[in-house]
Amino acid sequence: MKSEENRLTLGIESSCDETAAAVLRGGRTILSNIISTQIPVHRKFGGVVPEIASRRHIVNIMPVIDEAIAEAGVRLKDIDQVAVTYGPGLVGALLVGVSAAKALAFALDVPLIGVNHLEGHIFANFLNEKSLEPPFVALVVSGGHTALVRVRGYNHFRLMGQTRDDAAGEAFDKVARVMGLPYPGGPQIDRLAGEGNPLAIDFPQALRGDGSYEFSFSGLKSAVLNYLNSMQQKGVEVDKADVAASFQHAVVEILAAKSFEAVAEAGMDTLVLAGGVAANSTLEKRLREEAGRRGIRFLYPSPVLCTDNAAMIACRGFYQAKAGKYSDAHLNAVPGLGLLDVGEE
Ligand code: KG4
Ligand code: ZN
Repeated sequence: MKSEENRLTLGIESSCDETAAAVLRGGRTILSNIISTQIPVHRKFGGVVPEIASRRHIVNIMPVIDEAIAEAGVRLKDIDQVAVTYGPGLVGALLVGVSAAKALAFALDVPLIGVNHLEGHIFANFLNEKSLEPPFVALVVSGGHTALVRVRGYNHFRLMGQTRDDAAGEAFDKVARVMGLPYPGGPQIDRLAGEGNPLAIDFPQALRGDGSYEFSFSGLKSAVLNYLNSMQQKGVEVDKADVAASFQHAVVEILAAKSFEAVAEAGMDTLVLAGGVAANSTLEKRLREEAGRRGIRFLYPSPVLCTDNAAMIACRGFYQAKAGKYSDAHLNAVPGLGLLDVGEE
């Protein structure tokens, strides 16, 4: 039996439109991190088409795993455990990764570990910052989720609050779509906003100052749509950069306000950012500056670890295995899997 630091974990991720595989040595050393994105395929439809995503995953999964093994400089038979995303995500897409992981774990006779994708996003921070240890507060902002999570230990989480409707990334994607920008909209708005005035239009920051850690972004999306429609009716030309910057400002301000309230209430000194929207340059800058003012440690993953990848899944899987939390051959895709409270408070 290898020591924990030398244990090789193969991670597999296929929850949405990225087919990914990675090999980790121990919990935090990335030997390979292969991501095959389907974004160009889905772009012409303005969003992810589930059926096409599943079929693409089937074509890509084995070559991506082979590449991850080869780039890591190891052999398949050296792998000690297989970690795979089993939810949340698109059911057909998830099933491809779960089936591949089950088959590999069975053939290699090694343990299988089912990983919650959202927990994986949080764990991307451990790969990026080797000295990070719980406790901390995590702001998880992805295409499907927006949540504040108190992380007490590696297997000990508590959901402080989440969005009541749209996720932050979803709002970015929907607003970009009505502005005629290509999918995925987050990076497009991020770029365009850099040329605009964030205070040009006063868009709503729902639930601000209500004392909860809940978010709501559907009203903001409607406010942007109403603004664009009313300007069009008046025949006034819209400055798209100002709209992008003002929309982004509203999202960033509400995320920042609630994150720091959560850190204060939890009595913690570290805030970490996770999920695809963590790649947003304004959000990162706003949180970093505010954390500096408050004397709070602020961490966020490098862009490649912010968006979907399998290294974060392998990392989460490693720490589950360390605590003996394995899955069996009955592991199934759970599309609606949430961020559950785990461990004792
Ligand atoms: O975590 P992720 O890769 O997939 C999910 O688990 O959902 O997040 C994807 C989301 C998309 O909504 C995308 O528009 C958003 O992250 N995103 C961004 C940026 N880069 C990706 N949103 C704002 N600014 C960015 N730079
Ligand atoms: Zn994700």
